[in-house]
Amino acid sequence: MENIYIETYGCQMNFADSEVIAAILEKSGYTVCGSAEEADFILINTCAIRDNAEQRVRHRVRELKAMQNRRHNLRVGVLGCMAERLQSRLMAEEENVSFVCGPDAYRRLPEMLAQVRSGQKAAEVELSTTETYADIEPVRLAGNGISAYISIMRGCQNYCAYCVVPYTRGRERSRDSETIVREARTLFEQGYREVTLLGQNVNSYNAEIDFPELMARVAQIDPLLRVRFATSHPKDLSDKLLEVMAEYPNICRCIHLPVQSGSNRMLKLMNRKYTKEWYLDRVEAIRRHMPDCSITTDVIAGFSTETLEDHEATLELFRTVKYDYAYMFKYSLREGTYAWKHLADDIPEEEKTRRLNEIIALQGEIALENNKHEVGKEYEVLVEGESHRSKEQLYGRNSQNKVIVFDRKDAAPGTYRRVRVDSCTAATLIGVLVQ
Ligand code: 5AD
Ligand code: SF4
Repeated sequence: MENIYIETYGCQMNFADSEVIAAILEKSGYTVCGSAEEADFILINTCAIRDNAEQRVRHRVRELKAMQNRRHNLRVGVLGCMAERLQSRLMAEEENVSFVCGPDAYRRLPEMLAQVRSGQKAAEVELSTTETYADIEPVRLAGNGISAYISIMRGCQNYCAYCVVPYTRGRERSRDSETIVREARTLFEQGYREVTLLGQNVNSYNAEIDFPELMARVAQIDPLLRVRFATSHPKDLSDKLLEVMAEYPNICRCIHLPVQSGSNRMLKLMNRKYTKEWYLDRVEAIRRHMPDCSITTDVIAGFSTETLEDHEATLELFRTVKYDYAYMFKYSLREGTYAWKHLADDIPEEEKTRRLNEIIALQGEIALENNKHEVGKEYEVLVEGESHRSKEQLYGRNSQNKVIVFDRKDAAPGTYRRVRVDSCTAATLIGVLVQ
């Protein structure tokens, strides 16, 4: 039988999708193999959020030509957001690509591969208003057997001015809650100890129950199952969710709350639908309900017309919130978005870089400062595996999602251990097992 190899780029949602793709193709008799070298079909699951994400994929596609010249039956396909955005244009531009398949068309992959095998090209890029792949049990690829993603909804219709996601992933839809809870329970029974519920904006999850209720039901599966989620839109972060989080110790004390900018003028232009004051009120609400909750964010430097004053407002907001972690980006103009149609991409590249570097440097100081406050504290850590540095050390995470490295002694991956923090860097806490 034929081998497929899946390469995944981009966000957690894409990694979750790749596991659905693997399940669909295994059911049709394909085998997922561990390297491109052994594959008959290479499927590249792609991201379109910034231009550099797309350039990386194009580079990889071209690199695969050499392998295809050696092995004439090897077929390459592009899946996911970039396939959706570029459609058959991509096959015209990259002639070694034989098929493109958008995020809502994965059930058609078996037919597509059959067609491709007979020498044809294939494109399926129709978006759906209902597809959630709810009935498909993902094949866990390259996981550690301890922590897994569960996709709970798809699409986004917030239409932030800069963002291509509503166009590549379509309308928002929620997966029915019973299949989610069942998937989480199965994972727990298989030995998993952590699930992350995924959606572009989980706070607008809306099936028979709402998101706080869904979190409660997953948390009730077992106190030993940790529950995380991503991503929250600040406009919809409710007190009800914070109350449910506070009630269940196994719902992790970590909220990813993308701010994008600290300037109200920018937030308005970005169509984020909240102000800096609203955002800071949500941060305060988080700290009120869970004083030990970590907060992380996404931020964009150099969006259309951003002045030095707007940029300073972002730095000021970072100083106020003191994020535990931030994903920081330069603005990248995306075709088809509101900004592409109506707003100038007018901040020079070097200036975007300069502003981004300023944010990165500040965040580095803040993260180190935050970590210094952790020294002396004790945490329950879910042990995940061997540290990259030394076989004698293990690493795990606390509820706040901070990585803690410690001497292994008798600890084993997949178990909970108490660890006391002794020292730190900006990225890692270093500790010792207690008892
Ligand atoms: N340019 C730069 N960053 C972007 N993001 C989304 N679209 C763009 C863009 N066009 C960032 C946002 C979002 C994260 C997933 O990616 O910060 O929260
Ligand atoms: Fe993009 Fe905004 Fe939707 Fe996030 S919420 S995926 S930034 S449109």
